[in-house]
Amino acid sequence: MIKKNGTVYRLNTPNTTLVLQADTAQILYYGARLPAGDSFAAVAPLGRRFFSAPGTDDYTEYSVLLEYADGSFASRFAFTRAKVYAEKPELPDLPASYGEGKTLELRYTDAAEKVSLYILCTVFEDSDVIAVSARVANNSRKPLRVRRLMSAQFDFAGTGYEIVTFNGTWGRERHKTERRIGRGIFVNDAKRGASSHERNPFLLLKGAETYGFNLVYSGNHKEIVECNEAGRTRVLAGINDFMFDWTLPAGESFCAPEAVVCCAPDEDALSARMHAFVAEHIVRGKWKRRERPVLFNNWEGTYFNFDAEKIEAMAREAAALGAELFVLDDGWFGHRNDDTSSLGDWADNEEKTGGGLAALAERVRAQGLAFGVWMEPEMISEDSDLYRAHPNFAMKIPGREPFRWRNQLMLNLADERVQNFVVRAVSDVISRSGAAYVKWDYNRGMTDCWGKGIAGGEYFHRYMLGLYRVLRRVQKRFPAVLFEGCASGGGRFDLGMLCFFPQIWTSDDTDARERIAIQAGTSYAYPQSTMGAHVSACPNHQTGNGNPLSARFNVACGGVLGYELDPCALSAAEKGEIAEQIAFYKENRKLLQFGQQYRLEGENAAGYITVAKDRSAAVAAVNALSFSPAEPPVTVRLKGLDPAAVYEVCVRGKETAFTATGALLMSAEIALPLPDAVQAMRENSGSLRSVMLLLKRVRA
Ligand code: DGJ
Repeated sequence: MIKKNGTVYRLNTPNTTLVLQADTAQILYYGARLPAGDSFAAVAPLGRRFFSAPGTDDYTEYSVLLEYADGSFASRFAFTRAKVYAEKPELPDLPASYGEGKTLELRYTDAAEKVSLYILCTVFEDSDVIAVSARVANNSRKPLRVRRLMSAQFDFAGTGYEIVTFNGTWGRERHKTERRIGRGIFVNDAKRGASSHERNPFLLLKGAETYGFNLVYSGNHKEIVECNEAGRTRVLAGINDFMFDWTLPAGESFCAPEAVVCCAPDEDALSARMHAFVAEHIVRGKWKRRERPVLFNNWEGTYFNFDAEKIEAMAREAAALGAELFVLDDGWFGHRNDDTSSLGDWADNEEKTGGGLAALAERVRAQGLAFGVWMEPEMISEDSDLYRAHPNFAMKIPGREPFRWRNQLMLNLADERVQNFVVRAVSDVISRSGAAYVKWDYNRGMTDCWGKGIAGGEYFHRYMLGLYRVLRRVQKRFPAVLFEGCASGGGRFDLGMLCFFPQIWTSDDTDARERIAIQAGTSYAYPQSTMGAHVSACPNHQTGNGNPLSARFNVACGGVLGYELDPCALSAAEKGEIAEQIAFYKENRKLLQFGQQYRLEGENAAGYITVAKDRSAAVAAVNALSFSPAEPPVTVRLKGLDPAAVYEVCVRGKETAFTATGALLMSAEIALPLPDAVQAMRENSGSLRSVMLLLKRVRA
């Protein structure tokens, strides 16, 4: 709801209130919902603003930096107009949130330069989220250069905040990282052309309230937190200004991607609000609310070494175990038997596919499974027919040896001809194989950014606009296909990608023990229905660790379940266990994929609980993180239950059950009936002790 009182605008969601004073561009309040009636005259004028530019005595990091034709940088934006839209205006060429629409647009103009700055705020009432974006319009007769245009600026009183980011690298994505900065500038950013494994664009600022910031963008991003000497904390989020310099011709506009902002009393409430928002206003299309299929992927089972007989045999076993989709990963095209060739040649490897992809897809479907296929459409191998025919399709700088990464180059998606090629290539693979699912991979960073006629400072962003254009066109053509995003695991896990991919491969590290922290970190901003999570072989291929099959399953149920191993190599006992797991998962899939998930943490324990929307049932999976002789009992407090209800709690696969109120389960330390560690060691089934609790409400 947006309410106006003079030039003061109050943006209410059910649980939060944001108050903006339009004429002075000040934030008067952002926090828990306030009752109507205040004039805000009592609020100290702390100079907390929602945009900033050089040209005044504010020397904190700016949200807007424009360079004018005469070489000057000073802007002085004065308020000129406010407008409220009933429907959210579209952001040209960029992915964005959708659904509820009430949007406040504030316009500011620099009279000397004839340039306007628009700040837009959309209120999402069902999830307590506000989407913010910024646009610069050049109404003068001369071009100007956009050197920085942040999507959102939020100033907060005081400087004692804790900053939480989600950091990692390949195989170790989105580990929660906390720090406090007294005075100074903290930057969380990505410069590799993707939102990155290293630094997710999601950031938390924790004080009396918890604030979350995220960006609907998949390229270079930058979040700045500056605690200045005057005792104010500024948060900026937007496109990275690293190697960014955008020439804005007279009469044109530049639009920054959308940022989303949320306020909640604590981390759990913030995650719940972000989950609701992402599931309802970011993810879209046929698969938005649809239960996702249980898949088998052949990658860790075969890597590049397979033929049609092997794939058919794997599919047969997978089907017998209850799987619904078989995904043929890398290596089915060109002459690709390792990672040195064939990207760009999306022609069937006749030998490995046994006479073509269509024929192999049919053989998989004949087992009763849907067929899915892997592609890496943004890449090109130098050893490929595509490269031999169109070397200029590759992203490289004339006269300079390109930097090779995983033996491959990138395609220059900033070029429309290359975009057309990719749309054709992907469409052709889907059409000829009848694929119901595509895994869209992306396995290197951008280095040799160059395209004929494209200014260097515009390259990164023009690439992203090209990619979004390609994804829009492909998905328009194949609305029924389930697309899963991937970038060497979770190197592009962001809200921009989630506008196209309802789910994303969370990490190449499939070790259940490692996955606990990766999935927990990811879950701060993203719901479990977006996280691909697979059970893989033991010992694990990334770490060499062994974990019991039940523990691997318990952890994978925290995301969208799949299996990534050779089912033909399983023992009869393992097959029996997996068949049971899949049957259980299908029975509880709606709850597991679309219930409300909370992170669980206890002394030496970590896991999750997923609670049905009506709180009538829940599944909790909790793991002991280490073992030492004579350890104290491993305990945990559950979350999200109805405190007044009585729940029956049982351990999956065991007869024993007990009953307790939701209140008790959420406030007492519940001892976990974990498998015996010494016994597990003796059986050599690995060291991760894990238990899955099933809760059913028996009395309201
Ligand atoms: C990286 C992905 O993350 C893996 O799952 C797999 O698809 C490989 N690429 C294939 O090359």
